[in-house]
Amino acid sequence: MEHKIDHDDIGYNDTPNEHFSEILDQRISRRNLLRGSVASAISVMMGSATLSACGGGSDGPVVTKPDAPAPEKLLGFTAVGKSLADVVTVPAGYTATVIYALGDPLNASAGAFKNDGSDADFDNRAGDHHDGMEFFGLDSAGKPSASGNERGLLAINHEATTNEKLASFFIHANGGTNTLPRPAAEIDRETALHGISVVEVRKNAGKWEYVKDSAFNRRVTCLSDCDLSGPVKGNALVKTRYSPDGSKIRGTLNNCGTGRTPWGSFVSGEENWSGYFTRGAADDAARGNDKSVASLKRYGRNQGAASRHGWESGGADDKYARWNNSRLGASLDGSDDYRNEMNGMGYIVEADPYNKTRNLRKRTALGRYAHESAAFGKTAAGQPLAVYMGDDSRNEYIYKFVSTATWSDSDAAPADLLATGDKYLDAGKLFVAKFAADGSGSWIELSIGNAAIAGYANYKFADQADVLVNARLAADAVGATKMDRPEWCSVNPANGEVYFTLTNNSARTVPDGPNPRSYEDMKGASKQSGNVNGHILRVKEKDGNASAAFTWDVYLFGAQSDANPGLVNLSSLTADQDFSSPDGLAFSRATGICWIQTDDGAYTDVTNCMMLAGLPGQVGDGKKVTLAYGAANVDTFVGKTPTADTLKRFLVGPVDCELTGITETPDGKTLFVNIQHPGEGTASANIADPGKYTSQWPGNAGYGAGKRPRSATIAITRNDGGRIGS
Ligand code: FEO
Ligand code: CA
Ligand code: CA
Repeated sequence: MEHKIDHDDIGYNDTPNEHFSEILDQRISRRNLLRGSVASAISVMMGSATLSACGGGSDGPVVTKPDAPAPEKLLGFTAVGKSLADVVTVPAGYTATVIYALGDPLNASAGAFKNDGSDADFDNRAGDHHDGMEFFGLDSAGKPSASGNERGLLAINHEATTNEKLASFFIHANGGTNTLPRPAAEIDRETALHGISVVEVRKNAGKWEYVKDSAFNRRVTCLSDCDLSGPVKGNALVKTRYSPDGSKIRGTLNNCGTGRTPWGSFVSGEENWSGYFTRGAADDAARGNDKSVASLKRYGRNQGAASRHGWESGGADDKYARWNNSRLGASLDGSDDYRNEMNGMGYIVEADPYNKTRNLRKRTALGRYAHESAAFGKTAAGQPLAVYMGDDSRNEYIYKFVSTATWSDSDAAPADLLATGDKYLDAGKLFVAKFAADGSGSWIELSIGNAAIAGYANYKFADQADVLVNARLAADAVGATKMDRPEWCSVNPANGEVYFTLTNNSARTVPDGPNPRSYEDMKGASKQSGNVNGHILRVKEKDGNASAAFTWDVYLFGAQSDANPGLVNLSSLTADQDFSSPDGLAFSRATGICWIQTDDGAYTDVTNCMMLAGLPGQVGDGKKVTLAYGAANVDTFVGKTPTADTLKRFLVGPVDCELTGITETPDGKTLFVNIQHPGEGTASANIADPGKYTSQWPGNAGYGAGKRPRSATIAITRNDGGRIGS
């Protein structure tokens, strides 16, 4: 919404790293010189020498189930139309049920949620802004089960909370306090709304519900004790008053995308954590202008930066003081203040969803940045694991971690999930992606042994832990490719290819091959520019998880269906397929469907955010296209044009929401999805007038008390009991 800050949509990468386009310009100039002419406005060339010639894209695959009377046609449902209605719309024959919303009690100590701003005790309730989510099955006896189809645990990220100024206005009676200092009681509610839920869900008389008094239910907040694990543990960069030996950090924060490890644990990405911290106006000098200043700036905290909620103003208690990231103490190592506190945020964290007594472990070997999801490459016995990740900020990078340990099938269901995590995630190599114009690319290792990193002029790295804590700076040093805000990634189980949503980039002024669009689009009277609608990139490793080389193309370009087909709607999306700002993306392990979810502000004059089902082919199944933007031509590779049988809109959400989080029961017959921040466009001044809320969901769908909108998890089933997406 216009008056809200999009905390994703901020860029801190002002390094002069070559945009991919600059390489391209040189190449195009040479090509035009050879041709002796400038390319015509738009030329479309069939095929590509560097990509495989034919695709595996299938038109309406038919899967026969041994126990089913009739063949199942994936994407056999009727497409859902675009909509501005304040409801969840799913195809005919499907039912969506709200099962777990902001404020729902998780145990007997919290009462029913009144939803009028009087509720407190959010440590014992569902948090806010449900985001990434994974399902972990249970058998009827409550034991972990890979075939738990009617009972299980949902591990859910609670990314943030809806604020216009400082206060999270829907959870305070009068909208809360927007001046400093803020009341401690308000801050205590807001900190408890962040973090992670683990909640038991079950099918009861054919209907999904959450289990209010389950012994599995758990809340982790941004104040819970967490363990640092891997190379950064104990490093000088993470010593704080809370943990003078640098082994711990208080809480996990702004948890966005998720993942599931091959051994069956939950992983969660810490995304826009930096905005929660403040720094004093003269903190650069207080730090002696040491190298930490460059680090803080690169991660978005200039001196004098105000915090998102003013949580540092709650009083002298450490749980408030820790949000002030200034150097305040006299120590040389930071063990008497919170000058290093931000170095404990920005990781992939791992949890044992079945054991609420165990601390989360921050897997520092995977690097520190604005994490989204973590997608594991296909496992092979004796081969290392690969974990693919994006850094969601404008012009940030795509990363890959390759484990030192090689995979053993005996670890698929281990007795100790977190010890197995120690084995695979605490030692390995971190790489960043560099894309080339010809459809190829390479993974560059972020190692202190790399001369470009060891000798980087803008930041003097002390050791490998420093490289991991300041992964953005190390990636700058090696000339990684700046991307259009990498959000989720997921691995296609059919062929191991890795899909990355690049949600949009208002700062994309110079297009390049993997980020090839920069155009203008009107939303009402306001002009939007850059890569307005986002796209989905995919990568094919040359030779497995440890590969240093890959090829790439663009699976889909987001666009409105009537946009210029030669420059914007390059995937020829129809009215049943058009979307903007892809964000959540995950492949179903049951059906192979690629679920795509949007977090959009560009096309929301026409439709609320949505979810689509895709049946993609493979890298190289489309064609090379040359786009003409002004004087410069840009070559890119667009995947095979989707048909009505390979891409279809499945769901549209209520007003002002984002669709995010996708997980399923092992049989693929229940899909769980999160509706994040419905009604976030409401002006906080209208808190007393529900008629002025932009959304009243899910109260208007009959769920719970009150009219204040709430983020919530829904369960989607087929009325005939079939698999979702068929
Ligand atoms: Fe939390 Fe980048 O979305
Ligand atoms: Ca996201
Ligand atoms: Ca987002």
